[in-house]
Amino acid sequence: MLAFIGGSGLYNLPGIEILEEIKVETPFGEPSSPIVKAKVKGYEVLFLARHGKGHAYPPHLVPYRANLWALAELGATKIVGINAVGGINKLLQPGDFVIVDQFLDFTKTRPQTFYEGKFSPDYTPKGDKKHEHLLADKRVVHIDVSEPFCPTLREILENTLQELSFRYHPRGTYVATEGPRLESSAEIKAFSLLGGDVVGMTMVPEVVLARELQLHYAGLCVITNPAAGIAGRRLTSEEVVQMMKQKEEEIKQVVLSMVEKVYKNEKWNCECEKTLEGAEI
Ligand code: HPA
Repeated sequence: MLAFIGGSGLYNLPGIEILEEIKVETPFGEPSSPIVKAKVKGYEVLFLARHGKGHAYPPHLVPYRANLWALAELGATKIVGINAVGGINKLLQPGDFVIVDQFLDFTKTRPQTFYEGKFSPDYTPKGDKKHEHLLADKRVVHIDVSEPFCPTLREILENTLQELSFRYHPRGTYVATEGPRLESSAEIKAFSLLGGDVVGMTMVPEVVLARELQLHYAGLCVITNPAAGIAGRRLTSEEVVQMMKQKEEEIKQVVLSMVEKVYKNEKWNCECEKTLEGAEI
């Protein structure tokens, strides 16, 4: 099943039929919000509001592990994370979509793994999935993230954006910061020298944890503002929210038209479902 992790606004998609709101408890606690199961053009999809209702969870306190575990438990195999980001690369303009293909991680306090060896929670597998057994057996794993984002989902996103004639960039390096503060101008200058294109606070560890469950994960970023120091003025959350509102209709169109492409796609020539092979130690 395909799942979307995003902000508000996605529940009210035209043509979407909400089937149920599901409360899930995981070995890592409760997700940020109940998960919405809905029908889009006849296909079942899941939605999760990353920051919870009323934006109750700041980026560093989002229960990323519970969110991903719950989605997998409800049958998600493919995830599209939708993110607001600041633009570092001056060729990228506010309002543009970016289908990121790499990340640089500057987060500091977030658990990045489900598998904490002897420190893992006690857990009895509910099914026969590899990740359930790795957790139950209290194993340690080191997954490869040379290609962190699913190339097949990225290609579907690109085809969708191209068909809709929206301004987009097919690749980009996402810099993940700890937040919740925005960055200093010097940090953005440094990230730029390191090859960063956009900056945000949530895609890591989300993508890493998705990979630890062998899920396909792609990130659809919306540039809401020039990053700190670039526009030479103070940044506000207001402009981020305003740009996301402005792009809401386009995001809905992307969601609506990519669902069918994902379900009809037969060639998943990626290694996303093999991430845990040979990863345990
Ligand atoms: N920095 C970090 N996160 C963000 C930004 C930014 O400039 N804009 C939207 N999310």
